[in-house]
Amino acid sequence: MNPAEIPFLDLSRQNEELAGEFAAAFSRFMQEGNFILGPEVASLEEEFTAYCGATAGVGVASGTDALLLSLKALGIEPGDEVITAALSAPPTAVAISLAGAQPVFADIDPVSRCLSPHALREKVSGRTRCAVVVHLYGRMADMPEIAGIAEECGLALIEDCAQAHGASLLGRAAGTWGQAGCYSFYPTKNLGAYGDGGMVVTGDDDLASHLRSLRDYGRTDRDRLGEIGFNSRLDELQAAFLRIKLVRLEAWNRRRRELARRYLEGLAGLPLGLPDWDGERNHCFHLFVVEYEERDDLRIHLAKRGIQTAVHYPVPLHLQEPYLAGGLPSCSCPAAERTARRVLSLPLYPHLSDEEQDRIIEAIISFFRALA
Ligand SMILES: Cc1ncc(COP(=O)(O)O)c(C=O)c1O
Repeated sequence: MNPAEIPFLDLSRQNEELAGEFAAAFSRFMQEGNFILGPEVASLEEEFTAYCGATAGVGVASGTDALLLSLKALGIEPGDEVITAALSAPPTAVAISLAGAQPVFADIDPVSRCLSPHALREKVSGRTRCAVVVHLYGRMADMPEIAGIAEECGLALIEDCAQAHGASLLGRAAGTWGQAGCYSFYPTKNLGAYGDGGMVVTGDDDLASHLRSLRDYGRTDRDRLGEIGFNSRLDELQAAFLRIKLVRLEAWNRRRRELARRYLEGLAGLPLGLPDWDGERNHCFHLFVVEYEERDDLRIHLAKRGIQTAVHYPVPLHLQEPYLAGGLPSCSCPAAERTARRVLSLPLYPHLSDEEQDRIIEAIISFFRALA
């Protein structure tokens, strides 16, 4: 990489800082010979549960599995409808489909970019059993409203917290508003492993025991199956690495918020849509996403200056191939469609330097100056 380039995400800087502790964890792992669902996983479950303020945590193989197993444990069955936001990463919808349920896509609120409570209410039918709300980009959805609608309509509520480690609203963490909070430890997340991993946090001990069985083939003990489950277990090495990182998560999230504040100040007054961030929402800025009609022009301008950006997500879920009916969309979600056309994610990670960020801000200002 050209030294002047600013990568969208550079995990090597974080790894350098942690290399010594990782090496110690690895040598412990080699000596002890516990590979899967051992003491490191149990400790991570305890520590991450406490971090979220939940009562139980169940480590699984990925964020997608956290969603899938939660849907199964909550009794979602083929034929049931599950409502989710039209703008998210594909796995939100994939998990619903893998559970055999019918995903129903509801529009987002254009300011929060998360599920609109109004759209959720409109989509509830006699077959709706569950809502999966996504805290997109690390910004909490409108949980008081959404939890109220779920309760009123008798829906199970699952939170997709894959992008929301450390986010909270009104002092309540992501993942503790519904029955199940589903986290991903995919390497790029605010708390990322060195491979796949995930966890479900919950306040319901019965649900937690059901999830523990479901992640382990559906076993009730070593030799007995209670039902047909999955092989979806978290391994010891990933858990050991995640525990080392969990201790830093709050400090890393503070740095993310500081960088977000610098972006908001530096980009104020430009014709760009900026993330909505009020004091009640402890946004964890997994991504810093701006909006602009000519998004691709801005992206090219930044790329020419060595600044990498990304787009999350160019295709809303209801327009993804498997969800088209005879090649046509089965519903319209205009806010999600407009947002997907306009979004651009700028580099934001704890190890991004102020100088690098200043260069990014300068490059964006120069784009608009040239247009004037
Ligand atoms: C919003 C969202 N949901 C679910 C997932 C799935 O997580 P995983 O990749 O760990 O399966 C991701 C991660 O990519 C995500 O961003």
